[in-house]
Amino acid sequence: MGITKICCIGAGYVGGPTMAVIAQKCPHIQVTVVDLNEARIAAWNDKDLSQIPIYEPGLDVIVGEARGRNLFFSTDVDKAIDEAQIIFISVNTPTKTYGKGKGMAADLKYIELCARQIARVAKDNKIVVEKSTLPVRTAEAIKSILDNTGNGVQFQILSNPEFLAEGTAVEDLLNPDRILIGGDSTVEGQKAIQSLVNVYSNWVSDEKILTTNVWSSELSKLTANAFLAQRISSINAMSELCEKTGADVSEVAKAIGMDSRIGSKFLKASVGFGGSCFQKDILNLVYIAKSYGLNEVADYWEQVIIMNDHQKRRFSDKIVQTLYNTVSGKKITFLGWAFKKDTNDTRESAAIYVADDLINEHANIAVYDPKVSTNKIIDDLNYLETRTAEKNENRISCFTDPYQACHNAHAIAVLTEWDEFKTFDWQKIYDAMQKPAFIFDGRNLLNGAELKAIGFVYHGVGA
Ligand code: UDX
Ligand code: ADP
Repeated sequence: MGITKICCIGAGYVGGPTMAVIAQKCPHIQVTVVDLNEARIAAWNDKDLSQIPIYEPGLDVIVGEARGRNLFFSTDVDKAIDEAQIIFISVNTPTKTYGKGKGMAADLKYIELCARQIARVAKDNKIVVEKSTLPVRTAEAIKSILDNTGNGVQFQILSNPEFLAEGTAVEDLLNPDRILIGGDSTVEGQKAIQSLVNVYSNWVSDEKILTTNVWSSELSKLTANAFLAQRISSINAMSELCEKTGADVSEVAKAIGMDSRIGSKFLKASVGFGGSCFQKDILNLVYIAKSYGLNEVADYWEQVIIMNDHQKRRFSDKIVQTLYNTVSGKKITFLGWAFKKDTNDTRESAAIYVADDLINEHANIAVYDPKVSTNKIIDDLNYLETRTAEKNENRISCFTDPYQACHNAHAIAVLTEWDEFKTFDWQKIYDAMQKPAFIFDGRNLLNGAELKAIGFVYHGVGA
């Protein structure tokens, strides 16, 4: 099928950047991104490209080039579904917060709503593509809804998991390591796969486009994220041992990373991984394994999460212990709130949990993050429901100037590895702080030796 119209349901961190790049690379295809959230769509349509709702380096330029030409953002979901030959589903699939599987399983209500909407609207054959990360066999559920409630038209369901990492989304989309497309082995299934392959072939070489069955594709996404997260938990486990034994985790990471069988990436010890994917996907994996009675498999992967929670808790404990076992009434400044640099996304960010622990100890938290808004920071804390919103607001203050954020602080904690923190005037910050002036570098970002020379008491992770 010659594809001329694509629709994507969900204008979030996955749908927005992915569709912008498809539109840029395929000027002959009309790409419409739809969302129920009117404010989000309005922001995507903002004339001022610095106001688009997702911050990703390079994304504004791509949106600027394609928007209005063959890239459109709209709230008219029905119209976009009706017109499209391929429909991507990129809605959120958070971990369930209620009922069976609470805290573990993915909440598929948004996916189901999309499937029902597609079934209701579609009047001709469609290819429906799962883009969101989903539990294995979700495609089957989508197919069942479409086939049983649709208007008698044919649907092909493909799994095309997204491997982009936030902060490097544009680069990852332009030069992907691989594109994975799973579909049925039937003639129609293979035709649908080929239609999607043809879209990506506009800029990705054929040897990088892998096709599999639907379940392999779905499970590959969970497996990739589980392996990546496992590396971080593994090096973080070693970081605690390093602190006890006098080894330096950065040296250990370098030494093992030079073994080509291990490789050097994703070995950076930190305050713990965050983001919308790792924890959610592993919990999903654990839930699926348990549901098949595979308890050892479930326990094995759950340990990655247990280690990550431990690493976050260990960081806040260390701050309390070092500050003479009390942070009550003390000002602790957080540099960074996002879960990693170059994004305004804060989902599952370690900063949220570390702040929550320190507020339990009655600390006052000052936050400076170059891209995260004050409302978001307060919302993140309120979402934990540890205390009332008023109590959170009394304990948190947000700054747009890092020097004011650090003024009079007892300690600074680096929670995100934003490059700009390295260029701060650290002497000026030191002069305005309480003494001794402590720095807890949860990213091993700063130059510890230089900071110690200024007079700071510097603690990194794993050394
Ligand atoms: C991840 C996967 O990398 C991506 O392929 C998938 O599509 C979505 O999930 P993302 O969550 O955007 O991407 O970011 P990633 O770069 O993987 O970082 C996740 C977390 O791990 C961040 O909090 C990051 O700071 C942390 N991290 C990463 C470390 O602590 N150490 C490392 O060595 C690498
Ligand atoms: P992700 O990181 O997976 O892209 P986001 O939460 O950033 O997740 O984006 C998902 C988007 O999907 C949200 O903007 C949400 O409003 C949208 N969405 C959820 N359900 C529907 C639906 N049924 N129709 C249209 N948009 C939806």
